[in-house]
Amino acid sequence: MWREVDAYFAGELVPEDEALVLARESGPRTTMPKAEVAPNQGKLLALLCQMSGAKRVLEFGTLAGYSTVWLARAVGADGQVTTLELEEQNAAIARANLERAGVADRVEVRVGSAADSARRLIEDATEPYGFVFIDADKPSNPTYLKAALELTHPGSVIVIDNVVRNGAVVDADSSDARVQGVRTVLADIARDERLEATALQTVGAKGWDGFTLIRRTR
Ligand code: DHB
Ligand code: MG
Repeated sequence: MWREVDAYFAGELVPEDEALVLARESGPRTTMPKAEVAPNQGKLLALLCQMSGAKRVLEFGTLAGYSTVWLARAVGADGQVTTLELEEQNAAIARANLERAGVADRVEVRVGSAADSARRLIEDATEPYGFVFIDADKPSNPTYLKAALELTHPGSVIVIDNVVRNGAVVDADSSDARVQGVRTVLADIARDERLEATALQTVGAKGWDGFTLIRRTR
């Protein structure tokens, strides 16, 4: 039923134009088929981004650029998205999708390890981002959060994808580095006095998973 309900919600509330459909359908050509957010989740990211008032977005993990299209459209023509992708193969697919969606001019796809790319942004004293979506390799979540805190300002919103993993997140002794990447980043968030956060479980087209939502207060 989860998938059916997602399809119903998306059908009612989340119209996709051809560019979004093609971006989503190009997921299987990337190195990580089926990892892209669901349509109603893409719209959630866009709405959160707009509610935060962010005009500059940083994304860890591009893949085919499906969420990137949502975020780039959310910031509008005067906005800017920087998206970090490890694999050139994925970046090429994403660039074509961003072009087709009419947002290529406001998106920079940086290829290489996201940790390295983020470090370069920090070294270059890049203007802070108002919205960050962390959705790359899960073991590196703590590294990406640390980088995000060097690249945001008070009021910035940070969203982390895939924090439930079919419930595996509650296993403190998990040998899965992705689970430990989530557990460590949640502990880091809890300890950081600049951050207010919650986490939500979701069911739907992506199975049983969830998001962490963070607001940087100072
Ligand atoms: C995986 C990664 C994702 O970002 C996602 O949304 C779903 C699955 C994965 O690593 O399998
Ligand atoms: Mg994800």
